[in-house]
Amino acid sequence: MTTTQDPWFSRLAERAQAGPSELSAVLALAASGGDLVDFSGGFPDPGLFDTQLLAQTSAKVIETRPEVALQYASNLGLPGLREALREDVARTQGVTPAEDELIVDSGGVDGLTMISKAMLDVGDGVLVEAPSYLGAFSVFRTHEGVCLSMRNDEHGLIPESVIEVVEDAQVRSITPKLVYVIPDFQNPSGLRLSEERRIRLVEICRRLGLLIVEDVAYRDLAFDGSYTRSLYELGPDVTVQLGTFSKTFTPGTRLGWACGPATVIDAMAQAKTNTDQCAGALGQCILEAMIREGHYVAALPRLRAGYAERARALLSALDAELAGGATWTVPEGGFFTWLDVPDVDTRALAAVAVDAGVAFVPGAPFFADPVSSPNLRLSFSRTSPDRMAEGVRRLARAIDRFRQR
Ligand SMILES: Cc1ncc(COP(=O)(O)O)c(C=O)c1O
Repeated sequence: MTTTQDPWFSRLAERAQAGPSELSAVLALAASGGDLVDFSGGFPDPGLFDTQLLAQTSAKVIETRPEVALQYASNLGLPGLREALREDVARTQGVTPAEDELIVDSGGVDGLTMISKAMLDVGDGVLVEAPSYLGAFSVFRTHEGVCLSMRNDEHGLIPESVIEVVEDAQVRSITPKLVYVIPDFQNPSGLRLSEERRIRLVEICRRLGLLIVEDVAYRDLAFDGSYTRSLYELGPDVTVQLGTFSKTFTPGTRLGWACGPATVIDAMAQAKTNTDQCAGALGQCILEAMIREGHYVAALPRLRAGYAERARALLSALDAELAGGATWTVPEGGFFTWLDVPDVDTRALAAVAVDAGVAFVPGAPFFADPVSSPNLRLSFSRTSPDRMAEGVRRLARAIDRFRQR
């Protein structure tokens, strides 16, 4: 644990002296166990993994392809998996990335790291949604980017706010480079951006010469299996799409992909040679087999149904316990709902809530600008449906107690 008194502290790089991120606090909480009803981390439910099939597939690839599965891979990823992923993007999005337009990476955070290394000089601007995924802010800032907040409303990102932010950045001598967007079942809001707004966003970014970074972590997880056209589909010339298998396969393999303009993908691949060099070949071989044999796609309906059931249970508990005291988004996919609890600083509420036996992530760290937020994020992905009512009862009690202080 880092303490400022430790003699090594003053020798740490400046960027490390900020101490542990809010994200590591969330992960620590999630690992603490006990009777806590944990709505904090965006973890997939391990009960939804087909462990038997995974064990068989792992054994098979080690037996049949040991020289590949147990060896270093290319920094671009194994050719077979890249081909399977290019075919998958073509099938689901109608755009076929060329061979030099897609790489395999080690998941969403790795993709964010590589795009930052490839694109950001010190002080460059990254436009972000307000709210957005706090892990992304941390990556952009570590690479000395400046996060600039766009505006959201109850339907998600307002595309025209890009123009306002760019004008403001120019006044501050900041060069805006990237526009980071999570269009599907956003983290933390749970909202899906309409096709109309996506089209406007692509047009604006194309006109202003900005690269969209489209994070599709939850795209495959619409409860009804539907898809809205991706930003990559609408603007492959101005979009790098970052995908992860952490939510739909398993985070234990740490795998994802990035596709976009060849020049950017090539720079990302160069960046990968000085991070982890390549994504793990064993996981890549297992995933390739799961995709080729049809198991990956076949598992999606079960995952969607599992998360839809959890969402329904959470939303009906919220209706029963918090109607009148808070409002929340009604997600149609993904892992999250986003609450607005008027007049409550949810950072302070979080400690009271843990004492009451329930955990969530307070809203403030999901905003790039420092705010005192009445919002909080509830993740329903890893809590069993029969624990939802108890968790929300505890939350309602904690809010009452907090308001009476
Ligand atoms: C929007 C978004 N992007 C990326 C990630 C991280 O993905 P990975 O575990 O693949 O690094 C997450 C995880 O919570 C996420 O919500």
